[in-house]
Amino acid sequence: MDPVKIIFADDDIVARKLVLKLLVDVDFKVILAENGKEAWRFLKEFGARVLVTDWVMPEMNGLELCRKIREEFVDQYIYIILITSRGEKEDTIEGLKAGADDFVVKPLNIGELSARIRSGLRIITLEDEFKKASAQLNQSEKMASIGQLAAGIAHEINNPTGFVSSNLKTLGGYQKDFNALLIQYKDSLEQIKSTLNPDDHKQIMASIKDIEDFEKTIDIDYLINDSEDLINESREGMERIKKIVQDLKDFAHPGEDTMQEADINDCLDSTLNVIWNEIKYKAEVKKYYGEIPHLLCYPQQLNQVFMNIIINAAQAIETMGEITITTELEPGGAGIQIRIKDNGSGIEPKNQSRIFDPFFTTKEVGKGTGLGMNVAYNIVKKHNGAITIWSEVGTGTEFTIALPIRH
Ligand SMILES: Nc1ncnc2c1ncn2[C@@H]1O[C@H](COP(=O)(O)OP(=O)(O)OP(=O)(O)O)[C@@H](O)[C@H]1O
Ligand SMILES: [Mg+2]
Repeated sequence: MDPVKIIFADDDIVARKLVLKLLVDVDFKVILAENGKEAWRFLKEFGARVLVTDWVMPEMNGLELCRKIREEFVDQYIYIILITSRGEKEDTIEGLKAGADDFVVKPLNIGELSARIRSGLRIITLEDEFKKASAQLNQSEKMASIGQLAAGIAHEINNPTGFVSSNLKTLGGYQKDFNALLIQYKDSLEQIKSTLNPDDHKQIMASIKDIEDFEKTIDIDYLINDSEDLINESREGMERIKKIVQDLKDFAHPGEDTMQEADINDCLDSTLNVIWNEIKYKAEVKKYYGEIPHLLCYPQQLNQVFMNIIINAAQAIETMGEITITTELEPGGAGIQIRIKDNGSGIEPKNQSRIFDPFFTTKEVGKGTGLGMNVAYNIVKKHNGAITIWSEVGTGTEFTIALPIRH
């Protein structure tokens, strides 16, 4: 882990030197600033979790600095320790109002300062953990409600799908009979036409002509052929709807979080079906599914992992690209591997170690929360698996998920 960055702002060079000397070998990285304005600039430029600032300084004093930080740094909490010379109650109240968290009194006692910084770090860590936990909770609540919605819709669609399918089947049967009957009528008509004398049966011949004209107008041969095709196509469409409904049901069982035997290839397919709309215009999906044993796992959660990775892959592709999904048994047979590869933008080396961090996102505000990969990481870890990444800017990215086979 990187050392925690601390900004120490004091216009007194002796104090700065003392702090630097004494805090330097602890696990903090101290950045020294000569005044409030410089501290502000460093904070913006390098970031820091703790600020220790003198009260009276040229350019921008400690109080102004506190206020500015509280106004502008809303996403990340910065722990502020204010250095006062007297430690009087009025000062303390003013400092607290401006946003300070703690105080040290001059002359500085480095032991005390270090202890106060550590107590600040404890608070910040708790704050971070809390933020992370509540965001993850939000995310899983969101999944649960999407699941509930999906299952509800699937249930509602199931019923009409059932009777439309069954009606189409019956209609297909009727259609065959109608066609057979029509052919018989046509044959009989031909027979009548050839046996009757037109001069004796003018009226009958006229009606036959009307029938023949009408047949031409509507192009009866085409209709006979096409109606069968139409019914067959509709039946295929209904099969597809049934499959999607089944996938929706498989994808998200609200409230069901039990270990089950699952076929990972099926999980990938149902996930792909559910998010198809998000990817179909972005990428061609190539599947190389190997023969893999069923896995004792939390299938809905793994679906979420696949979904998060595949959606990221599609988002990394500018125009039509390719997503390749491979599954296979690991060489020793102790586990399976799922590899999801894209030929999108790739990830810069400096960001590769950060993509599993909660809230790390390079997407514009409102587009990404930066939780997708963190959630994926935690789910894979829960399965005692591992998730690794290979990426090259301009070439693409590949995620490999290794899951042990459990019995
Ligand atoms: N396949 C990929 N190609 C390129 N960059 C990727 C890929 N997958 C992840 N990333 C990078 O990792 C970051 C974090 O991904 P993550 O899924 O955690 O968050 P997000 O996609 O930004 O937001 P969301 O929470 O909505 O998923 C992304 O912002 C992106 O920069
Ligand atoms: Mg994402």
